[in-house]
Amino acid sequence: MARINPSILAADFVNMERDLARIASADLVHVDVMDNHFVPNLTFGPQMVGRIQDVSAIPLDVHLMIDDPERWAPGYAELGAASVTFHVEASSDPVALARRLRDRGARAGIALKPGTEPDPYLELLDEFDQVLVMTVEPGFGGQSFMPETMPKLRRLRDAVTARGLDVWLQVDGGITEETIATAAESGADTFVAGSAVFRSDDPSAMIAVLRERAAEHRH
Ligand code: DX5
Ligand code: ZN
Repeated sequence: MARINPSILAADFVNMERDLARIASADLVHVDVMDNHFVPNLTFGPQMVGRIQDVSAIPLDVHLMIDDPERWAPGYAELGAASVTFHVEASSDPVALARRLRDRGARAGIALKPGTEPDPYLELLDEFDQVLVMTVEPGFGGQSFMPETMPKLRRLRDAVTARGLDVWLQVDGGITEETIATAAESGADTFVAGSAVFRSDDPSAMIAVLRERAAEHRH
């Protein structure tokens, strides 16, 4: 099943409730938290995400691009996010943090920047519910998809399949009607799309198109 998670980084921050209504057919809402330290951009924190949680009928997929996720990530699980993903590059102990997230009722995800190899985590995949393969350098929407990240995704898919696990494999960055085919063929089942959805005249129709394209090109 192909999940489409629109990224509200591309929404209008002062009309968030209106823009959430435009993506009602989404599987989850992707929420990019940036701290201007782990990445050179700043978005919002727990107070804003808590309000989005209050008004959104769609479950939240929180992507933490922050330093010290040990300090902040559990709070996002506590405010009700369905999924909380932190970067392994920022975490001192990804397995321990994932366990804390699961204890608080969230799906636990790890994210890998384009230059980060998945090898240390291949044996530990059962500790996580999701692996996010960044297909751009994290920090900004509207960048171009990096096809060189696809072999890593394929290795993760092969490891998940070989072990019979139900770990979602997510791609994030530069996902369009075209690039989604490549990512689906390489093993992704969960697709974040910011610009493609919110720059479209009809975000809801675009979600349907992306879902169909992903299903057609299933790994
Ligand atoms: C980038 C964010 C992405 C971003 C994707 O660091 O993690 O979620 O919103 O935006 P597009 O789809 O425009 O590349
Ligand atoms: Zn993201």
